[in-house]
Amino acid sequence: IPVDNFDLVIFGGTGDLARRKILPGLFRRYCAGQIPEDAQIIGAARSDEGDEGFRKLVGDAVREFGGGRHCEDGTLENFLERVKYVRVDAMGDDGWEELQGRLRLGVVKAFYFSVGPSLFGALAERLRSFGLADDDSRVVVEKPFGHDLETARALNATLAQHFKEEQIYRIDHYLGKETVQNLMAVRFGNMLFEPLWNSQYVDHIQITVAETVDVGGRGGYYDKSGAMRDMVQNHLMQLLCLIAMEPPARFEPDAVRDEKLKVIRALDPVDYHHIARGQYAADDDQPGYRVHVGDPRSKTESFVALKCHISNWRWAGTPFYLRTGKKLRGRGSEIAVVFKDAPHSIFGDEAGRHNNILAIRLQPDEGMTLGVTIKEPGPGGMRLIDVPLDMSFAEALGAEAEDVPDAYERLIMDVIRGNQTLFMRGDEVEAAWAWTDPIIEGWNRRGEVPKPYDAGSSGPEDALMLMHRDGRKWREIKA
Ligand code: BG6
Repeated sequence: IPVDNFDLVIFGGTGDLARRKILPGLFRRYCAGQIPEDAQIIGAARSDEGDEGFRKLVGDAVREFGGGRHCEDGTLENFLERVKYVRVDAMGDDGWEELQGRLRLGVVKAFYFSVGPSLFGALAERLRSFGLADDDSRVVVEKPFGHDLETARALNATLAQHFKEEQIYRIDHYLGKETVQNLMAVRFGNMLFEPLWNSQYVDHIQITVAETVDVGGRGGYYDKSGAMRDMVQNHLMQLLCLIAMEPPARFEPDAVRDEKLKVIRALDPVDYHHIARGQYAADDDQPGYRVHVGDPRSKTESFVALKCHISNWRWAGTPFYLRTGKKLRGRGSEIAVVFKDAPHSIFGDEAGRHNNILAIRLQPDEGMTLGVTIKEPGPGGMRLIDVPLDMSFAEALGAEAEDVPDAYERLIMDVIRGNQTLFMRGDEVEAAWAWTDPIIEGWNRRGEVPKPYDAGSSGPEDALMLMHRDGRKWREIKA
């Protein structure tokens, strides 16, 4: 079903995010028949592209970063007819009147700020003063949403001068991932799990987002952020919220976001003994982190693991272990809910300890595995083993799984539909920074240097010890 007719302006339309994600995503939605024939997609940036130059850029981006699977010949040409370009100076007055002249009355207007946060204020102000945006228009902003609580507050305040909260769509692309939304379906669509989803039955929860990539060409940004700001404050925090929150009364924006906010606010400060930081070292043929960021003394972490607690009735006493890093052994995001041992073993001590583990794989190979304990087959008596009940969503759903839209496609369509459920509210972002800031301040105060770890490993030894000390262990990161 097509969404309502719209004009979407992408500031920073020639930039990396636009070329890799936003524009190819829009094209795929066009192929899927979701974009109305007379929608307008307008790139806006400083360079002098003209409509034709920008169409060429969009065509190249679509070919390079993924066209639609089911697109017929000629669809790209049709799509490109919807694409326009206006040269705009974000900090000055040039181009704004022309842009205003291109926008239509009576259609949804959305403005995507695919630019650094230092331009948010100038863009928001000009959208209003040149009469492009009204009280129904939407603005979309990307992470990093601030560098700490203070800067996030300042950004929220700046946007709030020009737009209501209901008009602001803060993207965390993890919320657009199919399987991340599946977390809510699994938890709240089944009777099976929710009664056990608390500290009485759950021993601990592990959240891993492992990457094999290095910091690549993003060293400048990354070295000022580190894994804590780049991944934990946003993506892992969102996963933590979805796995830990109370059931919202409805799947509606504020109902969901209220529950997520309560989780963040109930997080205890993290004891610095419960954190392991790492930085990937050079190996035989590849440079290490410090070479990638061009600072031989950098103290920024490319890996972090930590243990945290949520102080509420449901979770008191259940640790949550989070870890994420670059240059690790494999790429994989997983949430594992590790249940407690059975209270009493009728099979005696030799049967050993057996925990059920519900592992939800977010990427790649999305699916779920439930480890169950069974009798080892054979005549050798009552010996117990753990076997996985394994379900790969792609296998279970067949062809449909291949057509799953990527995170950006879904989120942009939600902007046009006016559905904020999968976007972060201002107070959520601030609460997440309020929890993150003291951790980072502690590292800075103590002058802490992250421990080196081998590229292709599971991270520094300290991360293993963090679990080991508690008599637990991380799940394997698969190569
Ligand atoms: C981004 C981070 O937000 O998420 C990157 O800035 C990271 O450093 C990326 O690589 C991971 O996203 P995905 O979708 O590849 O898991």
